[in-house]
Amino acid sequence: MNTDPRAEIIRAEGVTKRFHGLVAVNNVNFVLREFDVAGIIGSNGAGKTTFFNILTGLYPPEEGKVFYKGEDVTRMPPEKRVDLGMMRTFQLTATFDSLSVVDNLVLSFFRAHKKPSLLSLFLNTCKRHRNDPKIVEILETFDLKDIRDRIVKNLSLGEKRRLEIAMSILADPSLLLLDEPLAGLAESEIQMLLKVLRAHVGRQTILIVEHKLSHVQDFLQRLTVMHEGRVIAEGPCEECLRHPEVRKSYWQIATPAEEAGAAAS
Ligand SMILES: Nc1ncnc2c1ncn2[C@@H]1O[C@H](COP(=O)(O)OP(=O)(O)OP(=O)(O)O)[C@@H](O)[C@H]1O
Ligand SMILES: [Mg+2]
Repeated sequence: MNTDPRAEIIRAEGVTKRFHGLVAVNNVNFVLREFDVAGIIGSNGAGKTTFFNILTGLYPPEEGKVFYKGEDVTRMPPEKRVDLGMMRTFQLTATFDSLSVVDNLVLSFFRAHKKPSLLSLFLNTCKRHRNDPKIVEILETFDLKDIRDRIVKNLSLGEKRRLEIAMSILADPSLLLLDEPLAGLAESEIQMLLKVLRAHVGRQTILIVEHKLSHVQDFLQRLTVMHEGRVIAEGPCEECLRHPEVRKSYWQIATPAEEAGAAAS
């Protein structure tokens, strides 16, 4: 029986997805509770992105169910899940490339909380709200203060990704899902993004699919390791990484028993 008093945010039960006979996600069970910061890792083709897409609603699973705060959302389309505050991935956060950083933040905040028409937002809102405490705070947290007036199309990939995540967070989602947020970034941009993500540990429920485990390991509270569509280990990072199947599939490290077998043959 579960004794964790924190509210359940998302639950996948026996989720399976096939592509032309290939089982991309195989009977996966997964639970995320409020303020969990969890990661999913696995080798190429392990099924991480497919599972992520099932959670975000891009694909319905062929078998199994997905629950959000106890509600069955298995067949609910992505936009509706976003409306529920279920998630704001940066893929779903459209930036306005010809506007400044700060105006994108203002628009994101007002779009999520006040739901006015976009035209009235453009005409009335941006200028008046650039110095709202919420906007000033997010500029600070995400290290966007110095580039607040830059036009978004001129940002580097790292700056843009920071802005996109800041925009998602302004919408106050219950769950933030990030699929390889560090992909394509230079080391200095990675460090900057990790700094802002770290600042949200304990304030936000976050699920990160990531290849570069070494970068996120220190602030992930829980890890799920996938291989060939299945979850092969789950729990604290250290424990997962010691798991024999993980050592074999993810690190390609043989277990002591196998090493002994290989030596004997
Ligand atoms: N739209 C699709 N059509 C057909 N096959 C797909 C599709 N999406 C994924 N697959 C297959 O499903 C399996 C799981 O892919 P998925 O992209 O979920 O893996 P991943 O763990 O995210 O891999 P990576 O680390 O490379 O991003 C792979 O064999 C992949 O080729
Ligand atoms: Mg992937």
